[in-house]
Amino acid sequence: MTAQVGALALPNPIMTASGTSGHGTELGSYFDLSGLGAVVVKSLSFGPWSGNPAPRLLPLAAGMLNSVGLQNPGLAAWGRHDLPALARSGARVVVSVWARSRSGYGEVGAELARLLATSPLDGSCVVAVEANISCPNVEDRDRMFSHSCEGTASAVEALVNALVPTGLPVWAKLSPNVTDLLSIAGAALGAGASGITLVNTLMGLAIDPVTGRSKLGGGGGGISGAALHPVAVRAVFECRRAFPEAAIVGVGGVSTGYDAAELLAAGANAVQVGTATFADPRAPARVLAELEAWCAHQGLASIAGLVGRAHG
Ligand SMILES: Cc1cc2nc3c(=O)[nH]c(=O)nc-3n(C[C@H](O)[C@H](O)[C@H](O)COP(=O)(O)O)c2cc1C
Repeated sequence: MTAQVGALALPNPIMTASGTSGHGTELGSYFDLSGLGAVVVKSLSFGPWSGNPAPRLLPLAAGMLNSVGLQNPGLAAWGRHDLPALARSGARVVVSVWARSRSGYGEVGAELARLLATSPLDGSCVVAVEANISCPNVEDRDRMFSHSCEGTASAVEALVNALVPTGLPVWAKLSPNVTDLLSIAGAALGAGASGITLVNTLMGLAIDPVTGRSKLGGGGGGISGAALHPVAVRAVFECRRAFPEAAIVGVGGVSTGYDAAELLAAGANAVQVGTATFADPRAPARVLAELEAWCAHQGLASIAGLVGRAHG
């Protein structure tokens, strides 16, 4: 089940998805976190951020709409309270970071590099950094960084430069809300990202027709879960076709081993499980077990034999 994501080798291709399994070892009481390929923590900013007003989650017929708004304790507090427990769990950790300005990505990267340098034992569990650039950019009228090539390249470049001392790979997490995903993926890779994570949530809105108000406290939200799955499969498929050598992590609506196999066949090197965890906290471990059984049933000797199968 070994997965190769660029230069990073993982024991298997299944990870949690950022924001859907807490900041630390929250899922550790349901399954052994070290059994996953990696645990991706909720996106962290330089300082604490309180997120959006409630309600923040709305179940949909085929998934969920959320407007959590990137609530997090800030990198330093996370390093004190969550990183040591993650290190003790034996998990491989992917740190997701976000910022509200281009220079902010440099600052959060420098802070992470400092944190890892001052806590080398705990920090050794960190295997990659995911750049959440699918969040509002206050320098560009609340557009998302990953909604333009310029925004993508500048945020990724600032983060990659700041993380040079760590030697960690940086994956740029991209938005599906764009017409030209390939140019944006190219901008991320050109700016030094070691890989791309596809996809973040799709922008949506739910309105209560009685009050005329949004059903979520933050106004609009992001669609995740089953409805997003074909969007993710297509994004991965098209990016794999355009960038045959890129490291690609697929995410969107994976709730079974079969769903994970589909994203791997589209060209993902690894797959993240998010919304499925809300209905079943054991979902990431279950998806891994199902994928393993599916591969055995298919007579596949390795994950490498499945990755990109759709490109024949
Ligand atoms: C409640 C919730 C919170 C999320 N928070 C983050 C986040 O902090 N950072 C991020 O990059 N993605 C975040 N996401 C997006 C997920 O990581 C993932 O890209 C998306 O939900 C699609 O995968 P899924 O359908 O398996 O959930 C969040 C998703 C949900 C549902």
